[in-house]
Amino acid sequence: MNLVFLGPPGAGKGTQAKKLFQEFGMPQISTGDILRDAVRRGTELGKKAAPLMEAGKLVPDDLVVGIAMDHLQQIDPVRGFILDGFPRTIPQAQALDAALKSSGQKIDAAISLRVPEETLVDRLSGRRICPKDGSVYHVSQNPSKRDGVCDKCGSPLLQREDDKPEKVRERLAVYARQTAPLEDYYQKQGLLRVIDGVGSPEDIYAQIKNVLSRS
Ligand code: AP5
Repeated sequence: MNLVFLGPPGAGKGTQAKKLFQEFGMPQISTGDILRDAVRRGTELGKKAAPLMEAGKLVPDDLVVGIAMDHLQQIDPVRGFILDGFPRTIPQAQALDAALKSSGQKIDAAISLRVPEETLVDRLSGRRICPKDGSVYHVSQNPSKRDGVCDKCGSPLLQREDDKPEKVRERLAVYARQTAPLEDYYQKQGLLRVIDGVGSPEDIYAQIKNVLSRS
């Protein structure tokens, strides 16, 4: 199955995509993770993306479409995939559809996680990440066992620069302006599946599996 995860920053796209990967082995392609890795390594892409990401703005379509397609090509089509954070604009969605069509594939469902704005701000301002293994924590709702230290590898946890409150508001505004129209795009194709993203990650995961079993 080929899935797109939609939803504003902090909706839980990454959390749920990892669960699907753990249970079914469906690879997750997160353009946010790919871009952050490019920033860390100081590549040309990273240098272009860094100031935009820090400001909570989108990276230009031509840059993101190229990297997403490169990663998609490396995936075994039999296993399907989960796109997390891509597409984020209508031109990105159109480029994705065209590329999939040319290889005889398609998107099977677009899962949209709905979460109220105040909850999103709380989730993002409390999120802490492990820069080494990518583990995600929340200071109050999913804390690491030792304060500020990754349970799995012992590295110091970090707050993403774009998770600071003023950046979060900008990201939410960008989502409403540039990404929310994708719901309509997928609705028109009969692919949109809306999920209430408030509740425990396990409950939300159960809802997603339930919806997918009927897709
Ligand atoms: P990206 O990394 O994609 O960020 P995002 O979409 O803003 O998504 P997040 O990772 O912030 O949230 P999420 O929905 O994955 O939530 P998570 O599961 O982590 O993009 C970053 C930047 O890169 C963009 O701003 C842009 O600049 C650039 N970019 C990326 N893709 C692009 C594209 N296609 N085009 C252009 N630019 C692009 O959960 C968040 C927190 O909540 C965690 O602490 C988690 O533990 C907690 N949590 C999760 N679920 C629950 C729950 N059910 N209950 C309580 N807490 C929960």
